[in-house]
Amino acid sequence: MKDIAIFGAGGFGREVHMLINQINSISNEWNFIGYYDDDTNKIGKTINGYKVLGGIDALNSHKEELFVIFAIAEPRIKKIVVEKVSNRLIKYPILIHPNVILGDYQFLEIGEGTIICANVVITVNIKIGKHVILNLACTVGHDTTIGDYCSFMPTINISGEVIIEDCVYVGTGAKIINQLKIGSNTIVGAGAVVAKDLPSFCTAVGVPAKPIKFFK
Ligand SMILES: CC(C)(COP(=O)(O)OP(=O)(O)OC[C@H]1O[C@@H](n2cnc3c(N)ncnc32)[C@H](O)[C@@H]1OP(=O)(O)O)[C@@H](O)C(=O)NCCC(=O)NCCS
Repeated sequence: MKDIAIFGAGGFGREVHMLINQINSISNEWNFIGYYDDDTNKIGKTINGYKVLGGIDALNSHKEELFVIFAIAEPRIKKIVVEKVSNRLIKYPILIHPNVILGDYQFLEIGEGTIICANVVITVNIKIGKHVILNLACTVGHDTTIGDYCSFMPTINISGEVIIEDCVYVGTGAKIINQLKIGSNTIVGAGAVVAKDLPSFCTAVGVPAKPIKFFK
């Protein structure tokens, strides 16, 4: 078994621990050692029986090979934290729930650090970047490309030939129509229907989704 820790000791972190347990129930792969978090108030606390072992400095001084998965939903924060890791002993697993339906691996690309939760369906010729979260029951259609650090909340439907650039966050239940592009760092609100391309660095909500805010 390989040692694994979760960075992010919040609610999603506990859900990722559940995912690790469910993977282990099929193939005993992971030895869960505990959580890491940069919130000093959490360090030393026990969460569902496991310690918060430290922050990024503790991870960077870890002396043995350790797989770390980042349970941080906000893409820009996730990217900043991942980029602070300098310890070459830290590796990034791909975690896929045993009931996920995946197209032929030969025609799929999934980057390191990516989390694919229960009931997700990913079809064919799809490229998913590094440190992506596909939360419960999302679907991803053919020929879609998803950039690094993106986070998709539960029950999102992404149609075919969609391009989603890096660090995009999509709220629960949103739908993205085929052949559209969402620019980097954009936030799509819960329940939105993306029916036209969205630019980078905006928050878009509604049906059809329209930008309501731009930011840098
Ligand atoms: C869009 C979102 C990110 C909020 O962004 P924000 O920048 O904080 O926006 P605000 O809360 O200030 O809302 C701005 C306006 O958009 C509206 N709005 C916010 N979210 C909306 C949504 N999902 N759909 C439609 N309108 C929405 C607000 O009512 C507000 O309208 P008003 O100006 O008429 O009062 C957030 O509401 C959202 O949808 N987050 C996703 C949450 C989620 O999926 N969580 C999953 C956890 S597992």
